[in-house]
Amino acid sequence: MSKIVIIGSISMDLVMETDRIAEAGETVFGKQFSMVPGGKGANQAVAIGRLSSKDDHIEMLGAVGQDQFGPSLLDNLNQNQVISENVGTIPYSTGVAQITLYDDDNRIIYCPGANGEVDASHFDSEWDIIKSADLVVLQNEISHSSNLAIAQFCHQNGVKVLYNPAPSRDTDVDMLDFVDVFTPNEHEIKELFPNQEIEDVIKHYPNKLLVTLGTKGSIFFDGKEIQKVPAIKAEVVDTTGAGDTFNGAFGYALSKGMSFKDAVAFGTLASHLSVQGFGAQGGMPYLKEMKESGYYEETWAVE
Ligand code: RIB
Repeated sequence: MSKIVIIGSISMDLVMETDRIAEAGETVFGKQFSMVPGGKGANQAVAIGRLSSKDDHIEMLGAVGQDQFGPSLLDNLNQNQVISENVGTIPYSTGVAQITLYDDDNRIIYCPGANGEVDASHFDSEWDIIKSADLVVLQNEISHSSNLAIAQFCHQNGVKVLYNPAPSRDTDVDMLDFVDVFTPNEHEIKELFPNQEIEDVIKHYPNKLLVTLGTKGSIFFDGKEIQKVPAIKAEVVDTTGAGDTFNGAFGYALSKGMSFKDAVAFGTLASHLSVQGFGAQGGMPYLKEMKESGYYEETWAVE
């Protein structure tokens, strides 16, 4: 049984597919508009929920607004085996991400709304939920001060933390002493450690700092040598949420006792499957789909 608590953003993604990006002052026609559940926190929670078994306890903490998006996003969490009973509903608008899909990639403008009001200094029973977790998963779509307070609390109480510093901000390095796994992507690591080679930086954080490199896979240092785990080629429909799927699946695998390297490979397979569906959560795999893919390793033995 794994108890994983994901604390972060719960948003509605407003997705426009287009063949042209508008210049300043210009209007262009889009091809298709969709509204789908998103938010890096909720995406990672759903990625974990879909892989989880009935014995696992997967819980989301965060906030939605008092608008039409809030109830449907909570319902979406519940439908994906994620407990949402301690997510707050507050008098703000629900977080929204405006996503443009253009040229096989996404461009995102994020408006936090209720996510921006998640404040660890107001936590009460939440601390008990966090304390009893095997793993806490954090990203950067709630405030840094809350993330830091949660990470420090977890560190003091022996709760493992997976921190995905996306989107990056200057203060992310403050978190490093209090988290167990830190998963920036190629751009985020360059912003956090400017003018340093990735291979030099990861050597300071064995089995802790994992850098995801998109189609080039991911890289970490295992204490003896640098390990590179290649990506798996896919027919891409939508890359939105691929990083969240990776982080969720990677964290879930770690909670099941997999080795760091196997957990990276497990996350890699999940994100390979996720980019083949539309929307941040549309392609996120269930465990059954992972097992049915030709890339699943029998030794992973996740039930
Ligand atoms: O990582 C993808 C997510 O980031 C989207 O679902 C969107 O909500 C954005 O904030």
